[in-house]
Amino acid sequence: MTKTIDRPLLMIPGPIQPEPKVLKVMGEPVRAHYGPEWTELYNQTTSALKKIFHTEGDVFLMVGSGSCAIDACMGSAFSTGEKVLIGFNGHFGDRLLAVAEGYGLEPIPVKADWGKPLLPEDFEKAIRVNQDVVGICVVHLETSTTIINPIEEIGKIARKHNLCYFVDAVSSLGGLPMQMDDWNIDLCATASQKCLGAPPGIAPAAVGKRGWGFVNRNPQKGHGWYADLRVWQKYAVEWGDWHPFPITMATNNVVALKASIDNLLVEGLETRLNRYRELALRLRNGLRKIGMEPYTPDEIMSPVLTAAYGPEGVETSKIVTYMAQEHQIKIAGGLGDLKNIVIRIGHMAPTVSEVEIDQVLDALSQFR
Ligand SMILES: Cc1ncc(COP(=O)(O)O)c(C=O)c1O
Repeated sequence: MTKTIDRPLLMIPGPIQPEPKVLKVMGEPVRAHYGPEWTELYNQTTSALKKIFHTEGDVFLMVGSGSCAIDACMGSAFSTGEKVLIGFNGHFGDRLLAVAEGYGLEPIPVKADWGKPLLPEDFEKAIRVNQDVVGICVVHLETSTTIINPIEEIGKIARKHNLCYFVDAVSSLGGLPMQMDDWNIDLCATASQKCLGAPPGIAPAAVGKRGWGFVNRNPQKGHGWYADLRVWQKYAVEWGDWHPFPITMATNNVVALKASIDNLLVEGLETRLNRYRELALRLRNGLRKIGMEPYTPDEIMSPVLTAAYGPEGVETSKIVTYMAQEHQIKIAGGLGDLKNIVIRIGHMAPTVSEVEIDQVLDALSQFR
């Protein structure tokens, strides 16, 4: 069976191309953002997300991009002047450092080379040297390098030392295993436009049961109102039966997100994750055949995002331009240290199948 592929074909690391059903409901008439019917739909969406985060804590649908949820989690968990360890092995680790600085925290980078996962023992060492640290912040899937960080192991260290543990799961939730409560993650941020399969616009922020203990340590955080998760919790409790959030909710985005998550849960998380792994292997084998070696070995591959070296001596931005101009396929280039060294191909959408993977490979094979 041949499949018609919409052009441009989006194969970047988010935003992804949502399923037609998701786009259709997104275009339904705008609903009021309060009242019993809306509240039921909102609560169903947060309950479904709890199953994906695997938390018995709370999930809030902030209106914004992933950075909004990151900002809210870090700003709510920590106070000006506090020391936090920040995993730093790529562009988005660097971003966490910037957010920490923005809140006047004292960030201590725990570094690994770009292209290598963070090492849990490095966090132990950093804690030994800085006994007054109060938290650890780590990116799950470092989208700039495709490296998956060992968040479960780092969580054990956070628990052992009673540190507040925040994970940026913006590019991973719904595409990589996540066990927020079992892995001792206190706060976690994600975004609608990546593995959750919806358009950009919603930034889910999750707070585990222990997380509230950290958030409530200091009532004088002094970081505004919108990004204070205690404000979101207050509305969830006090206005819970008709308007369980403090703002005008982006109702169409939530309806689309719910449709997408419902599809994910119907397919089953495990089945979806396995399907993505198979697609990643197909892509990697194909890349090797055309002389574009994947950036990471298969043993530590990301199932939702692949980086690969270009042909010897070629600046990879040329491949990105060629793919867009000649084939209407959008892929991404390298970021930071990997600029012009790799291409990055996102396959974090339920709409990506073998057909799309083969189209990408076919187009890449024609690059001269
Ligand atoms: C790991 C990670 N963190 C944070 C962000 C920032 O998210 P947003 O652009 O949705 O604000 C991204 C975006 O690609 C990301 O991949």
